[in-house]
Amino acid sequence: MAEQFYPYTGATNPTAYEYWNECTDPDYLLEKLMWDIAPIDGKMVLDVGAGSGFQAVRYASKAFRIFAAEPDPRMLRQIYLRLAKEDVGNVSVLAVSAEEITLPTDSIDVAYARFAYFYGTDDCLPGLSEIQRVLKPGGHFFVIDNNPDRGQFGKLARQAHPEIYTPTYVDERTDFYREHGFERFEVDTLIRAPDRQVLGEILKLDFADNYRKVLCSIEGTELSYSLSVYHFKE
Ligand SMILES: C[S@@+](CC[C@H](N)C(=O)[O-])C[C@H]1O[C@@H](n2cnc3c(N)ncnc32)[C@H](O)[C@@H]1O
Repeated sequence: MAEQFYPYTGATNPTAYEYWNECTDPDYLLEKLMWDIAPIDGKMVLDVGAGSGFQAVRYASKAFRIFAAEPDPRMLRQIYLRLAKEDVGNVSVLAVSAEEITLPTDSIDVAYARFAYFYGTDDCLPGLSEIQRVLKPGGHFFVIDNNPDRGQFGKLARQAHPEIYTPTYVDERTDFYREHGFERFEVDTLIRAPDRQVLGEILKLDFADNYRKVLCSIEGTELSYSLSVYHFKE
């Protein structure tokens, strides 16, 4: 396991995690923002903390090659199961953490870490220099994080995890990333479930045993969800 290893509940609940990926950002606003800044068509792409490989496989049709870097064996299993089902030949799995990417220097055009490892504290500096090592000159790196200051999901996440989402969470991350050369963007998107049973499954990932209470506080099958996107250009 990686030195800085942050486990995620999706590793032990693949069904809920798949729903989460299918229902989050249904209009693809996040990737529109990222690929407008840094088009990935025909490019070498790195997904850091790739989870079950949902995004890596999704973006594979555009990229020349995608490396899905993931240290958790339970997630690696999910990636391999996905790759066995999908017809993609340009996704390569790296069983590594962000601090030790087994790729050559200057080999990646666009890297991204979606809710993974780069939580905007000094702990992620070894990983940050490792990503900068593998980025080509002019390469791009995106870090995607929850924004607890906006949207229904952020508000609920802050209520459930006040020790993580402190009142200054976003300001502190913004300052941290600015100091390291990143620019901040916001994406106001949605979680849109097909029904309340699926929404409940999704909520289990972040709210565990409290998910029923959280579900009762939401009307219908949709909730607003805001993201902070930090962008670095090498
Ligand atoms: C919240 S999940 C997000 C997964 C995926 N990016 C997504 O958007 O669905 C965080 C992922 O980061 C992985 N992770 C934990 N520690 C890591 C590290 N040191 N380097 C890279 N990834 C790490 C976890 O195993 C998990 O798969």
